[in-house]
Amino acid sequence: MANEINNFQEIISHCKEYGYIFQSSELYDGLSAVYDYGQMGAQLKKNLRDEWWKSMTQMHENIVGIDAAIFMHPTVWKASGHVDNFSDPMIDNKDSNKRYRVDHLIEAFAETLEKSAADTLIAEMDKLLAADDLTGLKSLIEVNKIKCSISKTVNWTDVRQFNLMFSTQIGSVAEEADTIYLRPETAQGIFVNFLNVQKTGRMKIPFGIAQTGKAFRNEIVARQFIFRMREFEQMEMQFFVRPGTQMEWYNYWKDARKKWHESIGIPSDKLRFHDHIKLAHYADAALDIEFEFPFGWKELEGIHSRTDFDLNQHAKFSKKKIQYFDNDLNAEGKPYGNYTPFVVETSVGLDRLFLTVISLAYQVEKWTKEDGTEDSRVVLKIPAKIAPTKLAILPLLKKDGLPEIASALMNECKSQFHCFYEEKDAIGKRYRRMDAIGTPFCVTIDHQTKEDNTVTIRYRDTMLQERIPMSEVSKLVAKAC
Ligand code: GAP
Repeated sequence: MANEINNFQEIISHCKEYGYIFQSSELYDGLSAVYDYGQMGAQLKKNLRDEWWKSMTQMHENIVGIDAAIFMHPTVWKASGHVDNFSDPMIDNKDSNKRYRVDHLIEAFAETLEKSAADTLIAEMDKLLAADDLTGLKSLIEVNKIKCSISKTVNWTDVRQFNLMFSTQIGSVAEEADTIYLRPETAQGIFVNFLNVQKTGRMKIPFGIAQTGKAFRNEIVARQFIFRMREFEQMEMQFFVRPGTQMEWYNYWKDARKKWHESIGIPSDKLRFHDHIKLAHYADAALDIEFEFPFGWKELEGIHSRTDFDLNQHAKFSKKKIQYFDNDLNAEGKPYGNYTPFVVETSVGLDRLFLTVISLAYQVEKWTKEDGTEDSRVVLKIPAKIAPTKLAILPLLKKDGLPEIASALMNECKSQFHCFYEEKDAIGKRYRRMDAIGTPFCVTIDHQTKEDNTVTIRYRDTMLQERIPMSEVSKLVAKAC
């Protein structure tokens, strides 16, 4: 594990050095658990988002996408249960005043124990969390003499629930302003638009509504880089089904989503399912698709069978009828019927997916050269399909007409995929930089190009080089991407 943690620190530094991720407001010493995506990161994030969007909307005739506002009527969050239930048990240390999420405090302590003792402790904690037993959780911390990492004391407050939603004011005059919340999940924008989309899109059940967008949670223990942030992006899909068929669809989406992760290059053995013991207030079944991050197995995506809870709640609080009229029931010999659809949700964090891709891609390779000397490189083996830049076009020299040929190739390719042009530095140094950025293909234009219109193409993953006709470059790269 120690090596993996070191490796994780290296990944974080690499992301900064090559323009993937910066600490937010770094100029002012940063803002905790908030990050900015740089020029490479923003493109990788967009590629991941586009892949998801395409797989959901373009590849499913019965799924459409929307883009709902972040600000919503405050009653939405009362109806959804977030005002009353979206909280985590917290405990404060009276000497350091540091606040901890109880599960994180106990989990960190468990990591210092032998495996069997750790398993027993975590099982006990899970039972108490499932029963909402705050007094029991405090006793568990006291009995195990779990200390605050700062004060090193066991002087704890009682365990209390702490709501994770950020609030702000809407309206220009303070006295008239209403308190509203920054959405903690994108899903509610879908639920409140269920009828709009179903009617205007003439959608027939089963059908889905997909959406990507920012969500905000006042996470107390925000740690592990972009794994747990206060501002993050979700890609969610609510699939509306007939009551009674939800488990069938839950199993369908469980498998479909795991296969999708594999399709973007995540190995199957790095993914696993984890069934929830404690269900959220809206769910009758739930699981996580976990990925083996450098710091252990953690949730990447949630699959939730959310029943008819959300639509019923919005019907109740808005006093409007939110139901579906199922024509097909009649054709099947059953009576015509209005009903509230059940919902199966798939919800993946875009930032966690980004971290997954980067953790897998980051590799340090060392080898012995033919002359016996050692060599090494840092490479991001991001699959070509999602790599931010697909092709680097490199004239060997800044003269003899080579830049002109390279620019012509750039013009031919840039409308098809993202290219990068570079004429500075020795060619070996430029290759290493492209490896570190994760560019899957480099082509070098040299003097031979002027004679026979061929170029050297270099493959990032194998470092192999071959000569191909310049006219083949765009086809080869487009095919791989
Ligand atoms: N609508 C259901 C929902 O929001 P969730 O399990 O709380 O369910 C779904 O969140 C996904 O959002 C998680 O699997 C994770 O990938 C991502 N996520 C949640 N909280 C996050 C945070 N603080 N930082 C980054 N990603 C987060």
